[in-house]
Amino acid sequence: MPQPPPISFSARARRTGEAPISTLIATVIANPNMISFAAGLVDPLTLPAQECLEITRVILSDPGRARAALQYDTTVGLAALRRELLAHIGRLERRPPTELGLTAEDLLVTTGSQQMLYLVSDALLDEGDIVICGDPTYFVYAGVLQSLGARVLTVPLDDQGMDVEALGALLASLDAQGLLPRVKLIYCTSYFDNPTGLTLSVPRRRRMVELARKFSREHRILILEDAAYRELYFDESGRLPSIKSFDPANEFVILTQTFSKPFAPGIKLGYTALPKDVHAAVLHLKGSHDFGSATLCQQIALEAMSSGLYAKHAEVLRVEYCRKRDLLLDALARHMPIGTTWTTPSGGLYVWVTLPNGMDSGRGSAAGVPSGGELPACPGDKLEARPHQPATTPVRLFDECIRRGVIYVPGEYCFQCERPPQNHLRLSFGQVDANQIDDGIGRLAAAIGAVVGLRPGTTKRAIPSQVPTPSVAST
Ligand SMILES: Cc1ncc(COP(=O)(O)O)c(C=O)c1O
Repeated sequence: MPQPPPISFSARARRTGEAPISTLIATVIANPNMISFAAGLVDPLTLPAQECLEITRVILSDPGRARAALQYDTTVGLAALRRELLAHIGRLERRPPTELGLTAEDLLVTTGSQQMLYLVSDALLDEGDIVICGDPTYFVYAGVLQSLGARVLTVPLDDQGMDVEALGALLASLDAQGLLPRVKLIYCTSYFDNPTGLTLSVPRRRRMVELARKFSREHRILILEDAAYRELYFDESGRLPSIKSFDPANEFVILTQTFSKPFAPGIKLGYTALPKDVHAAVLHLKGSHDFGSATLCQQIALEAMSSGLYAKHAEVLRVEYCRKRDLLLDALARHMPIGTTWTTPSGGLYVWVTLPNGMDSGRGSAAGVPSGGELPACPGDKLEARPHQPATTPVRLFDECIRRGVIYVPGEYCFQCERPPQNHLRLSFGQVDANQIDDGIGRLAAAIGAVVGLRPGTTKRAIPSQVPTPSVAST
């Protein structure tokens, strides 16, 4: 039989590669003994299984509600859920929603906040349009932008989050080059950033809105505030007003939040407050995507919120993740070699580690190893019996870590420039078992030692840093 002719894919499909995290997750799934600091998954032990059992029983034992839950609802999302969510946003802001210029009509429920990131970008971006992000940034969103053919420009981060003065300078320079008409969005993960764990300071939140307003001439430049980790704060210092709160007329900021991190990713629900005109356009696109997120999941979310279970569960998570953050920071302090620094997040799931200059955390040859079946079994305590590679063979840190049964996200995935810095890694304390954190970091440090020829355990730590090494200002 002759081969059929090839498929003629769209430019968008051709621009869309496999998300790097997919291969990392596949590696972890295929190697159940691997200690994973890689995926941003929530802790399986804290998932609200019992609560969801009770909630679904409540929903399904009322015939009228059961039928409604198993039927289509509106594209915009259940009205009762949106009213609960509006009140919830008000509580998080510690202000009545009216002071934020919001009503339940301004909210839109989506299939995870990821769907909203896609829909907003799809609604606003033509090929070559500019989106400004932090450097590093949430790499799944960077994939969306690549898919849509957007041009990504970046500003550095420091211990107060995105450098808004650099943002102002970038906008001014784009203005001078006549490129302002192409600037559509500023994307910011405002709380406990993925990947750095950093939080945008309050003065910078205010300033970001001022800048969006100032540079909005023929069209509005919108801020896409991704507050996925907002509710995972570890102390009061993490309970900041959103960027949105500095936009009281609801004109410049899109605030998106999710049930995935503070409740359960399995119900895959996000919700977003949008300026009215953006809301309408995004709603139409969602109509073409799925004309509404799963009604049963929305009913679960509604019942969880109105019964108080959601609030209780989020509190449990905050305590547990704070404990795991502390375990991770302690382990880093105990094991990592001199010259290594890391951020100290006041919430969320991530610590950003900067290795001494010259160290390479990248995947290199491991990039083509998607399946755990091809990887060495997790060696556990038999490690030291294995012969090390001869000194003449360069050993990659990533490969060495896999060999030792520990995995992280190479920081290079999170940068948008052509030659990203190689000496960063993202560690998540979400999914990893609390009892394995110290062992996992010990393995990572031993792998570093093996790769650079240090004897693991004999090197001592640097003072933990709040600040990741700032990276290139723009690409
Ligand atoms: C920064 C950030 N935004 C958005 C999302 C999307 O989450 P979901 O679609 O589950 O709401 C994630 C998931 O990890 C994330 O890390």
